Amino acid sequence: MNVAFLNGTYQPLEEARISPLDRSFLFGDGIYEVVPSYDGKMVGFGPHIERMENGLAAIGIKLDWSQSDWADLCKQLIEKNGAGNLGIYLHVSRGADTKRFHGFPESVTPTVFAFAFDIAPPPVADKARAKKYTVSTSRDLRWERCQIKSTALLGNVLHFQQGQDQGNDETLLFNADNQLTEASSCNAYIVKDGVVITPPLDNQLLPGITRHIVLDILRNDGSIKVEERIVTLDEVQNADEVWITSSSKEIGAVVEIDGLPVGDGEIGDVWLAAQKLYSANKYNY
Ligand code: PDD
Repeated sequence: MNVAFLNGTYQPLEEARISPLDRSFLFGDGIYEVVPSYDGKMVGFGPHIERMENGLAAIGIKLDWSQSDWADLCKQLIEKNGAGNLGIYLHVSRGADTKRFHGFPESVTPTVFAFAFDIAPPPVADKARAKKYTVSTSRDLRWERCQIKSTALLGNVLHFQQGQDQGNDETLLFNADNQLTEASSCNAYIVKDGVVITPPLDNQLLPGITRHIVLDILRNDGSIKVEERIVTLDEVQNADEVWITSSSKEIGAVVEIDGLPVGDGEIGDVWLAAQKLYSANKYNY
């Protein structure tokens, strides 16, 4: 049985119910997080909660929860759901109104929903066993507040589906100036001449927690150079390696873009070194 949390109560996921007037249902008016947990150990719990608090502040949802309240909720969900390889989904909506009205309602209580879902075991730093990702490319047609982890994901969903419809795992997104932003559900990187390069944080991309951990681990280790700067479509097409990162994928090696090979079409050595470092250090975050 999958045990979920809804507004203070643990219950079977399939029995959890919200009002159709909930603002997340009507407007996508909410903030969410996905925290990975392997054998009871979470990766990046603190930064995930901090990002959620920033998101709630950015859209003016006031919720009186401390970091230890969230820690307790996550611990309970992990225990109640078997502590395997889990994604912990946290969702705070502005709450259920009594009518449909765009403006913020005066006195609604935010809806807090959380559940755990199975995720794949963490990737191992082994070229022979690692998944090889293929991606499409597209002009980024989402909104200009992509730094907010909003539950209003239609733009991301449509871009993700674009890749799926073309037989690919993901879609790399480029702004009107042909600069890489991110992927529909991941951050994106190139590797050129041994240097890992990823777009700088701004309103065009989510400040990924995996991104933060990867960059921090690489900088602390020092053996692989890292740059945060604008990356053009041309650079992506001529990269030695291309990666995507997210909480459940960790570092994913992209071997094909729009049907053309990345570099020699195989998983690269810099990926191997980076994923090794990530696997060894991720629980420190
Ligand atoms: N997706 N960019 C976007 C648009 C994302 O949706 C995600 C995560 C990321 C990577 O962020 P992080 O490293 O913090 O997981 C980047 C999550 C997992 C999802 O929507 O399921």
